[in-house]
Amino acid sequence: MLKVNNIEVVYNDVILVLKGISLEVPDGSVVALLGANGAGKTTTLKAISGILDSENGELEDGQIEFMGKPIHRLDPDKIVKIGITMVPEGRRVFEDLNVIENIMIGAHTRPDRRQVKRDIEMIFGYFPVLAGRKNQLAIFLSGGEQQMLVIGRAHDKGGYPGDILIDGIKAVPYDYLVQIFLFQPGPSQDFFHGRDNQFCWFNFL
Ligand SMILES: Nc1ncnc2c1ncn2[C@@H]1O[C@H](COP(=O)(O)OP(=O)(O)OP(=O)(O)O)[C@@H](O)[C@H]1O
Ligand SMILES: [Mg+2]
Repeated sequence: MLKVNNIEVVYNDVILVLKGISLEVPDGSVVALLGANGAGKTTTLKAISGILDSENGELEDGQIEFMGKPIHRLDPDKIVKIGITMVPEGRRVFEDLNVIENIMIGAHTRPDRRQVKRDIEMIFGYFPVLAGRKNQLAIFLSGGEQQMLVIGRAHDKGGYPGDILIDGIKAVPYDYLVQIFLFQPGPSQDFFHGRDNQFCWFNFL
């Protein structure tokens, strides 16, 4: 369970962007956050991921909890390690690296090589098209394939359950949505049943 409780976010010490935002994402569920442009959806995801600092933003009030523990004072790398990964808007692939290297980039410090391999197989299960292009430079993937790559990379969690925060549903591949929303047999079974706490939080644009 992810809980956001009454958070307030200020940019540059003066611009109040979020006030009194609360929400809960129960285990195994998909929650969509809807709002007008500029409403603060991305800011909410950045607050959860702990990356406001890099933009001179600050969580001035409220708490964020994951699996019963407060996470709002943790550094972003710790937040990733406990299982929360964010897929930012705009297909942030490393264009000069190939597909495997893009997936591995978050796993290079992990000692559990076998699990890394299993994670990569799982990612290719979600997105078979990536398996066929694993040695291709990311710059040569189509826009949708690049989006698969960044969503795939967010699944690279060392076999632990976790939450995936996707900023902007527009570019999320259709098949992946169908797997998640309709609980189709296949990788989504693992996704929902094998990994109790895993869910996606889609942030609609
Ligand atoms: N780094 C920043 N410094 C100052 N203001 C910012 C910063 N980032 C966002 N804002 C402002 O905070 C508000 C919320 O922005 P945010 O990006 O969270 O909105 P959003 O709901 O994701 O919008 P969109 O639907 O357009 O993606 C906007 O008014 C925006 O201009
Ligand atoms: Mg946004």
